[in-house]
Amino acid sequence: MIKKNLSIHYYELDDASQLSDTEQNLVAMARQMTENAYAPYSEFFVGAAILLKNGKVVTGSNQENGAYPSGLCAERVAMFAASAAYPGVEMEAIAVSAKTKRFNLHEPVPPCGACRQSMMEYETLQKAPIRILLSKESGKVLVIEKVGDLLPLSFTGDSLKK
Ligand code: THU
Repeated sequence: MIKKNLSIHYYELDDASQLSDTEQNLVAMARQMTENAYAPYSEFFVGAAILLKNGKVVTGSNQENGAYPSGLCAERVAMFAASAAYPGVEMEAIAVSAKTKRFNLHEPVPPCGACRQSMMEYETLQKAPIRILLSKESGKVLVIEKVGDLLPLSFTGDSLKK
């Protein structure tokens, strides 16, 4: 039996000012997009903004539904919109921000498992890392250098090929 070890790293910044201007702008757009969330059930508002290699930014917010599982997270709304509008264009970074009026969020919110899997699909396809910038209304920003770090030992479509 061989015990194998996986380790990941990520960066914690005190605030967005330590990012490049482009990434600061992306975080600001994700924060702004929380205003567009349709989340009457959870009252948990999430915004996402994706920077594409062609310079375009595609945004999204969580969209809920009275039949709860029919809704979709902000990350997948943005990713699917980006791939639908600009198929095959590399995604360089995704900023995600969350807020709720119900309590003070202490930490940026990491993406759910299904969103990680969707992000992994695009990262595998483009063979280049997608940076992930996680934030809340203000303050701390977490930077993850690639989706693979959020989903180690992941299942990808490669396993379906001979
Ligand atoms: N949500 C997101 O949009 N992204 C995440 O990373 C976590 C959760 C949404 C889904 C649902 O509308 C609400 O937040 C509460 O789970």
